[in-house]
Amino acid sequence: MHNTHVLIAYGSKHGATQGIAEKLGEALRSDGCDAVVMPADRVDDVSGYDAVILGGAVYAGRWHVEARRCARRHAGQLRHLPVWLFSSGPVDDSAERRDIAPVRGVARWMQRLGAREHITFGGALTAETPGRIAHSLVRHGKGGDFRNPERIHQWAHHIAAQLATSS
Ligand SMILES: Cc1cc2nc3c(=O)[nH]c(=O)nc-3n(C[C@H](O)[C@H](O)[C@H](O)COP(=O)(O)O)c2cc1C
Repeated sequence: MHNTHVLIAYGSKHGATQGIAEKLGEALRSDGCDAVVMPADRVDDVSGYDAVILGGAVYAGRWHVEARRCARRHAGQLRHLPVWLFSSGPVDDSAERRDIAPVRGVARWMQRLGAREHITFGGALTAETPGRIAHSLVRHGKGGDFRNPERIHQWAHHIAAQLATSS
């Protein structure tokens, strides 16, 4: 019996989603999985993994382009693997208060890939985030880091538990 190999791929423009992916990786490793974390555009082969977690930042209602491309590129294989999707978005506490449904494009990928679950995590937009829109939002008090490490860890443990019972 080998350890469960989990790929965590992310589409991130400014690093918030990457941070979430890395936390998921840490938590899965602490549960005994072999977790590999990489940007979605670097994924060229998903064979060899027992499960895949694919996440992306949401910009203007759309999942990060590299998350979408990764889903498309590997759809044939992903359909036969346990897959979980996540989004990083709201820069407020709404993701803490209720389950936020995937945006339409992500809901479609859920279906096409037969993904097990989707979760929306709070995102981050801080003074360090580059870009004019980001700076202006932060200046108007619309920024903050709403990633909740506890919730990210919980989701990873929940996935590890499902993988343990299914293997
Ligand atoms: C121009 C812009 C548009 C955004 N649009 C959305 C959106 O439609 N829905 C959402 O939930 N979050 C939206 N956000 C928040 C980002 O998704 C959030 O900051 C995310 O955590 C960024 O991830 P990244 O650093 O990995 O790119 C937007 C942020 C910016 C700067």
